[in-house]
Amino acid sequence: MISIIVNNKVCEVDVAPDTPLLWVLRDQLQLTGTKYGCGIGECGACTVHIDDEAVRSCQVPVQEAAGKKITTIEGLPENHPVKAAWVAEEVPQCGYCQPGQIMQAAAFLAKFPAPADGDIDKEMTNICRCGTYPRIRSAIHRAAKGAATPAPATTAAAPSATAPTPTTTPATAAKGGKQ
Ligand code: FES
Ligand code: FES
Repeated sequence: MISIIVNNKVCEVDVAPDTPLLWVLRDQLQLTGTKYGCGIGECGACTVHIDDEAVRSCQVPVQEAAGKKITTIEGLPENHPVKAAWVAEEVPQCGYCQPGQIMQAAAFLAKFPAPADGDIDKEMTNICRCGTYPRIRSAIHRAAKGAATPAPATTAAAPSATAPTPTTTPATAAKGGKQ
C-alpha cells in the first residue's frame, strides 16, 4: 500500500510503486478530470500540482508522490480566479486539454502574478489541438487582474483518511467532462 494525499484526503492505494500517478488518480481514485494525452510528458493534459508545483502526472511514479500534497482539477477551489476566468473567456473548445491548462495556469500565476505575454508564451507549454491559445492568454490576464487575493490552491480542511469523493467542477463539466 502507498499512501498519498490527494485534494487534502489521505488515500491508500494498492499499486506497483512505479505506477504513473496519472493512472492512480484516474483508475484508483476515479479523479478523471486529469487527462491522458501523450504519456511522454509533452502535452500537459495530465498536469496536476505536487506541493503547489505543476507536474505532468504521467511522468511521476506514484511512490515519488507519497506524502506530498497532490492537487487535481477537482481540488482547485470553485472560486479560484483561473477557473472563473476560463469560464468568463469561454476558453475551451473540445475541452480535453483544459483541466491541464487550468492547473498549469494556476501554478504559473502563483509565480507570475502579473505576467506579460512573453511570460505566458514561455511558461504555458501545454498543447491544445483546438488552438485555444489566444483565449488562454486572455483568461490568464483576466485571472491575474482578479487574483489580488488569490484563492488557496486547496480547501483548508486537514487531511482525512476517507476515500475521495470525485466531483465535477463547472470548468470540467463544461469543458473537460468525464472522459
Ligand atoms: S499525458 Fe502527460 S504530458 Fe501528455
Ligand atoms: S480545447 Fe480541444 S484540445 Fe484544447
